[in-house]
Amino acid sequence: NPWQRHKDLISIHDLTAEEVEALFQLAENVKARPDRYRSALAGKTLAMIFEKASTRTRVSFEVGMYQLGGLATFLSSRDIQIGRGETIHDTAKVLSRYVDGIMARTFAHETVTELARHATVPVINGLTDLLHPCQALTDYFTVREKFGNTKGLTLAYVGDGNNMCHSLMFGGPKVGMHVRVATPRDYRPKAEIVELAKKDAAAAGTTIEIFDRPEEAVAGAHVVYTDVWASMGQEAEAEKRKRDFAGFQVTPELMALADRKAIFMHCLPCHRGEEVHEAVADGPWSVIFDEAENRLHVQKAILLLLLNR
Ligand code: CP
Ligand code: NVA
Repeated sequence: NPWQRHKDLISIHDLTAEEVEALFQLAENVKARPDRYRSALAGKTLAMIFEKASTRTRVSFEVGMYQLGGLATFLSSRDIQIGRGETIHDTAKVLSRYVDGIMARTFAHETVTELARHATVPVINGLTDLLHPCQALTDYFTVREKFGNTKGLTLAYVGDGNNMCHSLMFGGPKVGMHVRVATPRDYRPKAEIVELAKKDAAAAGTTIEIFDRPEEAVAGAHVVYTDVWASMGQEAEAEKRKRDFAGFQVTPELMALADRKAIFMHCLPCHRGEEVHEAVADGPWSVIFDEAENRLHVQKAILLLLLNR
């Protein structure tokens, strides 16, 4: 098992380039021949804790477990005892007695790291305020699929320096890609994450660059990526953010500055007319639905690597 040394998937920063490549090769096989994996996780179970809404993550993990012969159980944090004050520690201990893995989507990143610390079974980060590793791994898998290879390509991220931006910066160096980020000054990615990603990039021979203007980041890029301006939990700031992100919409004019073969990506859900123009989201550059589909294949590979030991 190429992920032998990992109990959990918390951050792409924890993975080596070889481990990411092994995941992609497995995901490729799972996608091409799903029938071969029909009972690969027979009898295995996954608990899925959600503090936030989800369409893709919930459905792809649930369907993925079923397609591998196992079972996933959906736990809204409002309905389990966490919502009434049971500790993360006790929840991790108890769930570990029932299930073979835990997937969690939380506000605080520390909730997921604490679950992982106390659970004896694998814990998978299904998005926190800080990171969204399953999505970024899927995104680079999708780039690899579209271009045949990731090495030497440039991804330009335009918008909020949020969880998506952080995980994409961590992923770039692992797949040999340069990452350029353009955000309004008050919405830059966290300095600690940029610093860690830059170290990884230096070791990998790639670059991480931060800009103030979308045009600078996008010039010649092979992938143009954006995400919502107000993430889950930031609903109260949505109007202010719409004003602060003026000029950061991904438009056909912006796409025209990218490489001639550039693709447009978005983790979804997207807001046409806000962070992305509808002519881009639904235009020839867009691979958003292939990207969404790949969540299923890549997560099945993650489940195989972590739950099958
Ligand atoms: N991209 C993503 O994680 O989507 P959901 O919030 O619908 O799970
Ligand atoms: N940045 C977004 C991603 C949603 C998949 C959020 O955290 O809401």
